[in-house]
Parts: sequence; structure tokens; C-alpha cells
Amino acid sequence: MNIVICNDYQHMSAIAAQVFINCLQANTQAVLGLATGSTPVGVYQQLIESYKAGEISFAEVTSFNLDEYIGLHRDHPQSYYYFMHQELLNHINIEGQRVFIPSGIEENYGAYCQWYEDQISQAGGIDLQILGIGSDGHIAFNEPGTALGSRTHITELDHQTIDDNARFFEAKADVPRRAITMGVATIMEAREIILLATGENKARAIRDALEGPVSSQCTASALQQHSNVTFYLDSAAASLLQQK
Ligand code: F6R
Repeated sequence: MNIVICNDYQHMSAIAAQVFINCLQANTQAVLGLATGSTPVGVYQQLIESYKAGEISFAEVTSFNLDEYIGLHRDHPQSYYYFMHQELLNHINIEGQRVFIPSGIEENYGAYCQWYEDQISQAGGIDLQILGIGSDGHIAFNEPGTALGSRTHITELDHQTIDDNARFFEAKADVPRRAITMGVATIMEAREIILLATGENKARAIRDALEGPVSSQCTASALQQHSNVTFYLDSAAASLLQQK
């Protein structure tokens, strides 16, 4: 595992964006794994700038998002579909039919989750996956207690996650209680993974992920067993690490 301690959010976003730029320059048909939440927004801004500067193209790129709230339509401002289009997809030249974001309004999730897995396989697997981390140690919406062998599935959100994400909604009661998420095993199949975290409220999760036992109680700890993963942290998120 590689750990890079960055000066601040801007610095972290710039060097993580460079990983994407290098990937896209080396492989114009790259398959990207994308995340939502506050953390990757700076990376997406840098990618938009790099695209506008003519340094990268998304014309042949395929993307897969990690997760979506159950019950939110695409046009709901808090849906991850909406978020991804606002923050990245509307500003680059990616083809709509190569953008995969789990749907929050399916009727048969058993079949749909398998379909999503199949799309990832048929695209040849994910080349580069970006992750944030929940303050409870989750990656995607793989909450504490989720099997490390899990694949795309429906999950109940943890109280901690509902509290953390309430900031995006008018009221805590509006935060959906369930989500569809790629599983830990799905994520672990990405060929390269970068995880970004800033701020003191992520310090415990980062310590548990990097220095704790590999455990379903902190699903990010599964990344200890990935052969090509880099954590980009600020000093606050890294503050509880023993082996800096
Ligand atoms: C989002 C996702 C989540 C977030 C995590 C951190 O697609 O999969 O795991 O990465 O909840 O969220 P932020 O970045 O808002 O702190």
C-alpha cells in the first residue's frame, strides 16, 4: 500500500487528478470507477480543466459509479446520477451509453445487481477506481458488517452515514435509508485504486483501514489486500496513524 500525505485538499486533488490524467493518456479506452460525495469534487474539477485544455479525452472512456440511493429518481438533486452530471459528466465528452450509474428505482434488484456486475465484466473490468471513505470506514456504501466478499447489492445505511450525509438534504428524515452499492469484492477487482480522505473526522476510519485488522467492521481495511492501492491523505486524516 502506498500512502501519500498531502499539504491540503487542493494538493491532494491535484495529485490524484494526475493519476487519472496519466491513466487516460496511456489508455484512451480506460474504464474508470467513480465516486460521489464531497471528497472527489476537486479531482473532477481538475479533470474538467485538463479536458478543456485538450490534455485528455473521454470519447472512448467507460465509467461505473459506486452507488446510488434507493428511491431517488435521476432528476432528484441529491441523486448520485444528478451529482455526477453536475460535477463532471456534463462538462466532458464522455458518451452517455458508456456511463453506468446504479439506478435507484428498479423493481427487480436481484436481476439488476447482477446486470450491473455483468456490465463491469463486459467492459473488461475497472482500470482505475477512486474512493472516498465514510467516517465509519465504509467504501462505497459497504457499511460495517458487510461481507468482504460482497458484490453489487442493496444495503441499509448505517446511522453514522445517515448523520454524515444529512448535510446534503433539507432534513435528516429526507436521507434515504437504503442504497445500491458495488460490493467490496467488486471494488477489489479494480486494477488500481486510489482512496482520498481529508479532515479529522476521517482519522479514525483511516487508522482502522490502514493499521487495523482486515475486518468487515471497517470495509476499507480490505484494501490492505489489494496489490495496487494508494491513499492520498491530508495531515488531519493521517493524524492517528502510528507508522507515518
Ligand atoms: C460515494 C461513496 C461513499 C463516500 C463516503 C465519503 O459514492 O461511495 O463511500 O465516498 O461516504 O463521503 P464524503 O466524500 O462526502 O466524505
